[in-house]
Amino acid sequence: MTAKFPNVQAIIFDAYGTLFDVGAAVASCSDIPPAQRAMLAALWRDKQLQYTWLRALQKRHADFGQVTAEALDYALEVTGLASPPLRQRLLALYQTLDAYRDVAATLEALRARGLITGILSNGTPGMLRAAVEHAGISHLLDHVLSVEEVGVFKPAPEVYQLAVDRLGLPALDIGFVSANGWDAYAASAFGFQVIWCNRTAQPAERLPGTPHHMIQSLAELSALTFN
Ligand code: LAC
Repeated sequence: MTAKFPNVQAIIFDAYGTLFDVGAAVASCSDIPPAQRAMLAALWRDKQLQYTWLRALQKRHADFGQVTAEALDYALEVTGLASPPLRQRLLALYQTLDAYRDVAATLEALRARGLITGILSNGTPGMLRAAVEHAGISHLLDHVLSVEEVGVFKPAPEVYQLAVDRLGLPALDIGFVSANGWDAYAASAFGFQVIWCNRTAQPAERLPGTPHHMIQSLAELSALTFN
């Protein structure tokens, strides 16, 4: 049966891991041996997220560009890969991460159905602008919202509230799509109608909230019924 999302008027996406492939920067460094590459990619992402959560708890916000660079420094040291040129190359690649293949067509299909589209992300406005322009999807997004407007990272409720305030819609009228399980759970606890794009078949999170629906690729959004 087709999943139904009554009253949903806007679909808001997480950015990193959902629209943009966070593994793409390290993956393109073919000069790094594959095993080290995999370890670096996983550690960089894990540390990056940990640092966002820890900074939010400590109320010591620094922007996502800084957190991303600091996490990379940690991961490069652990993997024995620390070198200024590699650091510089990876941070530059992070500005132009590949979008997943189904992103543009999915956004086009949603807009053709009259839905408002947008991004709500930890990324800075500059990082998000670069990623969106690189993917060629600027014209397919009504809103690109950065946590920099509220000065705290996800999953602080203030971040999800930013979408409510800027869209002028109640939380229940907003569909939120994230590939990050913890983000999907927090967004549903906040009150959005959430679709968890669980690309890698992760188990359920043991956290507050319950995503309303699970898909494995963004292309599956076209089969869902909104409003
Ligand atoms: C973001 C992180 C969570 O884009 O991926 O907000």
